[in-house]
Amino acid sequence: MTGATAAADAAFIRCTRLTKVFRRGDTEIVPLRDLDLEIPRGAFVSLMGPSGSGKTTLLNLLAGLDGATRGELWIDGQELSRLSRDQLARWRAKSVGIIFQSYNLVPVLTAYENVELPLLLHDLSRRERHERTMAALETVSLVDRASHFPRQLSGGQEQRVAIARAIVADPPLLLADEPTGDLDRVSADLVLDLLGRLHRERGRTIVMVTHDPLAAARAPLKLHLDKGALESTRVDSVSMEGARTAAGEVAP
Ligand SMILES: Nc1ncnc2c1ncn2[C@@H]1O[C@H](COP(=O)(O)OP(=O)(O)OP(=O)(O)O)[C@@H](O)[C@H]1O
Ligand SMILES: [Mg+2]
Repeated sequence: MTGATAAADAAFIRCTRLTKVFRRGDTEIVPLRDLDLEIPRGAFVSLMGPSGSGKTTLLNLLAGLDGATRGELWIDGQELSRLSRDQLARWRAKSVGIIFQSYNLVPVLTAYENVELPLLLHDLSRRERHERTMAALETVSLVDRASHFPRQLSGGQEQRVAIARAIVADPPLLLADEPTGDLDRVSADLVLDLLGRLHRERGRTIVMVTHDPLAAARAPLKLHLDKGALESTRVDSVSMEGARTAAGEVAP
């Protein structure tokens, strides 16, 4: 085993000097600079920080939706920058479920069809797809809304459909970008209860960006991103090894 592989195995997510530069004409924006971060398998992590501090940028890198400018990003033993576009798409389909603030459901598809969508990328029979889709809807308590279109659902229900879609292919990693940002307290708590259960009962690794201190309080491990630097607070030191972080330089 090479040193690099051994290091990657130490954590479920490992960022080493991870840097993202956006270029716009002569202007460079560096939301993430030399970020070092380790997140253990099965952790539930909240990521807070001021607007523009790079939270969504980091989540997009973890999701394989965008590539880093420099540095390494290992997830479950895989360094993402070494994958081709096609390999990355396949990796994403089996490895990550993504939940957005604005739900991002397809408006012309029913709740059932929205949840089934990621399974079309997998080699499954119609029957297997049906069983998995219904199981995911069952997890979010929305079997009775399967035939509803997104416009016929409340915001909280839409977000629970989005969670069902994120978990239907059974990925080990769930990424959520302000999943309760558009919800009232009751709906937000239902969504947070669900994420907590997926963490505790199904061992999912969850990284949740949030501006809501009550949402962040649900996560045993809290990260704070500000001007390219990370701070961590570990609450549950018994069940988790905890994330190790190192502050990057402040972007100019
Ligand atoms: N595609 C892009 N092109 C250029 N600059 C970008 C791009 N995406 C993000 N940025 C810039 O990178 C910085 C970080 O943005 P990001 O969306 O990660 O912030 P955030 O922490 O998620 O903020 P918020 O809490 O408002 O969602 C911002 O200055 C933003 O303008
Ligand atoms: Mg954001």
